[in-house]
Amino acid sequence: MTSPFYITTPIYYVNAKPHLGHTYTTIATDVARRFHDMKGSDTFMLTGTDEHGDKIVKAAEKNNVSPREYVDEISRQFEQLWPLLDIHCDRFIRTTEERHIAVVVDILRKIYDSGDIYYAEYEGMYCFDCERFFNERELVDGKCPDHGKEPVSIAESNYFFKMSKYQQWLIDHITENPDFIRPERYRNEVLSFLKEPLEDLCISRPKSRLQWGITLPFDDDYVTYVWFDALINYISALGYPDGENFKKFWPHSHHVVAKDILKPHGIYWPIMLKAAGIDIYKHLLVHGYWNIEHSKMSKSLGNVVDPLYLKETYSTDAIRYFLMREMVFGLDSSFSESVIISRINSDLANDLGNLFSRVLGMFHKYFDSTVPDYAPEMKAEFKLDLKTDAQKAISQFVTAMDNFEFHKALAAVWDYISKMNKYVDVTAPWELAKKKESKNQLAAVICNLLEGLRVVSGLIYPVMPETAVKMQKHLGFAPDSNFHRIEKISQWPQMITNQTLPKSISLFPRIDSDAILTKEEPGEKTLAEPVSPEIEYEDFSKIDLRSARVIHAEKIPKANKLLKLEIDLGDHTRTIVAGIAKFYTPEELVGKSVVMVANLKPAKLMGVQSRGMLLAAVEKEICSVAVLDRDMPPGTRLK
Ligand code: MSP
Repeated sequence: MTSPFYITTPIYYVNAKPHLGHTYTTIATDVARRFHDMKGSDTFMLTGTDEHGDKIVKAAEKNNVSPREYVDEISRQFEQLWPLLDIHCDRFIRTTEERHIAVVVDILRKIYDSGDIYYAEYEGMYCFDCERFFNERELVDGKCPDHGKEPVSIAESNYFFKMSKYQQWLIDHITENPDFIRPERYRNEVLSFLKEPLEDLCISRPKSRLQWGITLPFDDDYVTYVWFDALINYISALGYPDGENFKKFWPHSHHVVAKDILKPHGIYWPIMLKAAGIDIYKHLLVHGYWNIEHSKMSKSLGNVVDPLYLKETYSTDAIRYFLMREMVFGLDSSFSESVIISRINSDLANDLGNLFSRVLGMFHKYFDSTVPDYAPEMKAEFKLDLKTDAQKAISQFVTAMDNFEFHKALAAVWDYISKMNKYVDVTAPWELAKKKESKNQLAAVICNLLEGLRVVSGLIYPVMPETAVKMQKHLGFAPDSNFHRIEKISQWPQMITNQTLPKSISLFPRIDSDAILTKEEPGEKTLAEPVSPEIEYEDFSKIDLRSARVIHAEKIPKANKLLKLEIDLGDHTRTIVAGIAKFYTPEELVGKSVVMVANLKPAKLMGVQSRGMLLAAVEKEICSVAVLDRDMPPGTRLK
């Protein structure tokens, strides 16, 4: 019997809309949960929103609405997004729910009564953005490491949770349970943090400063610190203390978080559970950060990636695949649309998509769409053995998925796909089809390939559920609830003899990167540029900036944002395409001395080759082309 499986995402703050980072964690959690469904476990997935605290009040004020209205709206956006990305959670929790509040109050009371919460005067450095006190060791150059701001000194009386009392217990637990926090680098990080004396945690905020929170059951003048409230969601959602789900799933709990919230999950949460007399969770799985072309993704940098844009541009399955394949769970990854496109074109359209249409195409052609007899003894006389290779792929896939190594699990499947592609090349069914005496061999080859595709369709299920079902359908299987079960996938053969299969389809069309990467309009970027890191002069000098004169300008038919410009660079002329047609008429530009990047790789925009780029400042509805304030000969280098 497989044991139940409970998996959670962090509950996301509702001070901003869902973005790529939230999406990654929630998809990874959904993938892990689907994998445990494949193993036959009874599974439960939880996600939700974290709705109390100062951050939320400030965001509501900024939007001129009450905190209640604000949290309702953003929480709704999160809840509605997940099904659009094929994420199916069993419970969506909100920390403003009465049921959750009752559990928080109950646990606070328990810990207070046991003497682990005390009242004291405290003076410390407080970061309002993090909503917590910092000690000297945690600050970087005297500033909050996350927000880069100097914390403010605050003196006030508050309630404190005796974390220090449990420090040695936690060290022992982590040491004795090597897989409590994974990957190992984060386990080591927590252990190294625990080498220093642990400070007690301030778990209250005076109502004079903040009202949007859960009132302490033992003092009406205070609300609960948002983290103390939020972490409890993992058990309140299961109906702690008496709920059936709590009894069944809590002993099998897995929390998935990114490295930013390692400390509350690796230190505060187990100690809170211990102090409240509740069994601690089983596993904490920590992943790295998605950066946008090496910068942190953040609202203030304007480079936040919208998951709905990704879905609409590339499809849900392609995005799920990209995120799981590209990031090594635990390490940071760099996001860019060109990487998505190359993954889609090479892995999905070329490797998987081509194999699928190639095999089904031959099957329909040579066997008139009807599955031939498959006699296992009728082996093709080739060294390649797709059945044995499939067992290997399944076993590698299972091991990697058990370890949350999604990229490795997918690599094992793609390795099998490439073996299948090789099998087609080596067995050359088109040659077998020419000889009557090879008919049986041809049947064996095609049946092996169909079985191989069936295995692939089962293994991709957790990551690409829609494609998995599509493939199954075209192989003649009704997607019953069991087709993706590991034990079922492993049974070979399963193709139904004499069954007629539906005509094939294309699984993943190739993406035309020019069409996508050049469609952005000035001032309307989906992925705004990151604030660039500092560079050396040597790097700057690689950019060849030149003065240039516009000698001709015209609109490009059917491209209402683009102008085609003829540019004089002194010793030669060039054509460039600029996305400024909304802001300048061609006549306005002719004769201007502009600044251009002369050594940019040529790019084709709407069929016109552009050699270079004109510099312009663009902000929403305004655009200003950079010009030189004195006449300079065209072609003069800017340094
Ligand atoms: N509300 C707290 C969590 C409380 S859990 C009891 C919180 N919320 S958050 O909205 O800031 O979400 C943080 C989480 O969002 C990260 O741990 C991670 O799961 C996800 N991500 C946010 N930005 C991310 C990246 N740039 N990259 C990867 N994941 C990121 O913290």
